[in-house]
Amino acid sequence: MQGLRTWLGSAVCYVVFAVLSHMAASGIAFAQTRPTATAEAQTVAPALLQNIYGRSHTSLNGRWNYIIDPYEMGYYDYRRMPFDESATGKGGFYDDRAPKDKNDWVEYNFDLSPTMKIPGDWNSQAEKLQLYEGTIWLRQVFDAEPKAGKNYFLYFGAVNYEAHVYLNGKKLGSHKGGFTPFQFDVTGKLNKGKNFVIVKADNTRHQHEIPTVNTDWWNYGGITRDVLLAELPATYINDYKIQLAKGNLKRIEGFVQLAGVRKPEEIKINIAEAGISTTVKTDANGRAAISIPVEKMTYWSPENPKLYKVDIAAAGDSVSDRIGFRTIETRGQDILLNGKSIFLRGISLHDENPLIVGRLRGQADMRMMLQWAKELNSNYVRLAHYPHSEEMLRLADEMGLLVWAEVPVYWTISWTNPDTYQNASQQLTDLMLRDKNRASVIIWSIGNETPVSDARNVFMGKLAATARNNDDTRLVAAALEVHREGHDVIVEDPLADKLDLVSFNEYAGWYWSNTKEMLDYRFKIKYNKPVVITEFGADALAGYHADGDTRWSEEYQDVLYQKQFKMLTAMPGLRGMTPWILVDFRSPRRQHPYFQDFWNRKGLISDSGKKKKAFFTLKNFYDDVQKKYQ
Ligand code: GCU
Repeated sequence: MQGLRTWLGSAVCYVVFAVLSHMAASGIAFAQTRPTATAEAQTVAPALLQNIYGRSHTSLNGRWNYIIDPYEMGYYDYRRMPFDESATGKGGFYDDRAPKDKNDWVEYNFDLSPTMKIPGDWNSQAEKLQLYEGTIWLRQVFDAEPKAGKNYFLYFGAVNYEAHVYLNGKKLGSHKGGFTPFQFDVTGKLNKGKNFVIVKADNTRHQHEIPTVNTDWWNYGGITRDVLLAELPATYINDYKIQLAKGNLKRIEGFVQLAGVRKPEEIKINIAEAGISTTVKTDANGRAAISIPVEKMTYWSPENPKLYKVDIAAAGDSVSDRIGFRTIETRGQDILLNGKSIFLRGISLHDENPLIVGRLRGQADMRMMLQWAKELNSNYVRLAHYPHSEEMLRLADEMGLLVWAEVPVYWTISWTNPDTYQNASQQLTDLMLRDKNRASVIIWSIGNETPVSDARNVFMGKLAATARNNDDTRLVAAALEVHREGHDVIVEDPLADKLDLVSFNEYAGWYWSNTKEMLDYRFKIKYNKPVVITEFGADALAGYHADGDTRWSEEYQDVLYQKQFKMLTAMPGLRGMTPWILVDFRSPRRQHPYFQDFWNRKGLISDSGKKKKAFFTLKNFYDDVQKKYQ
């Protein structure tokens, strides 16, 4: 009886979930992770501005005052009622209220509060914040000269994790998700002269969120990417996609979406260097589909990362972008870039600077990481496990590195919670919207090491469908898991049927077996798809030397790599790999006092930038592979 009841219970919840996610897929929104504008704000733009750096904008980066607020005193009254939902909407720290006179009672003061550098995580900016998880209020004061007839957007590159944003004491809205951009329309809300923006940022982990409570990376909190105030004309170019059509080197396809339109408009698209100049007309909603024949073009590739200047002009607005044109597809077990079979010589990396610990802080840091990857003779990187910054992708475009981009659907997510699904699908969509014009991005990953179950299969199946709906020109994948039967390492996952690659993490020699016995194992893969190993590796403390059987030593890591190559190259469908990982990284899950000290030591480079033995072993392997695929 009990069995029947539980089966019935779970059957009912699956059905409910299936219905709800069907509603989600057909656009009936639940808890939008897009910024939710409070009733009076209602100011969110239709779609995220494409290419914010190509617009006229003011940077609000710099030193922001901050107030640490573990009990959220600045947000809730003592009855835990949000001040910004009270009748007056006032009372919280976002008022930035100074005492009127000596008698006035105010228990916070931004002017007298310390400052931190924005963009920047807070954990690396004050000793006491290293492990801090909770709320911190951040305030920036800035001058503005708003002009009539112009639109203004306040744009955040990323805030980890939940952000509530206020301008001049008024709530603009909130956003969830620590790695994707969001914006607010602040037209008509800016003062001439002094303005103040206040952000309540909260990086507390929760089971139902994306990511969930358990991750193997540091939960850096705060405003980790640029804050920009963009100025646009009344009618402006809001969004566009200009890429080669799926598997077609002879046609550019895409769209341009205007906002603030009152009538159909003409759009001019120029790619002068490719001899392309065309005009298209929008419909009444400001949207124009694009389909342009390609005569002569240098296609983007790691060997020749050619970027074209693309100019778009319409209704008094104009924007330029640097875009590469390439096709990516699979055929049987091959991955074809511009129609030619390639091997993805890759490495995984986190968005973290090991030398000055913390989230990457601008171009120089990002170039350092990608340059290290190039020194490995990589042509490909896995940006794990969450969307890295737009600048990182533009740099990959420029430096000629193919990219696996991923959303933090990591380990055991709340598979049956509709809000969790909505959150995951929104983060995926925001990532894809932001980077859809990046030639470097060839693979959208919908998750990492998610345990097979009916509810998970439904959830991940829907995410795969969302990815395909958003973009049919790139590959869709996920980092799957393997299981072992005797000495067989088996990849068997119903999700793989919905993906373009058989991509999985396997830790032969480290989490199972060891360097002595790992070659006794062999992979059993039943899919006729390209095989891409998303992770393998071993921890090694740089400078600790011993024999190849001694864990934590550079020699153990090196031998493990050599044996991995033997195991993996035995697979006929092997077409790529991203060993774990380029450089040691911080993790709250790594407590060995001597070998780890809160570092995951699987890097090929140490936290002081020292290359370990295995770095050179991998480089040599890639030099050989490169010759085979020339
Ligand atoms: C996992 C996971 C990584 C983690 C790695 C490790 O597979 O995907 O995020 O850091 O293994 O254990 O080192």
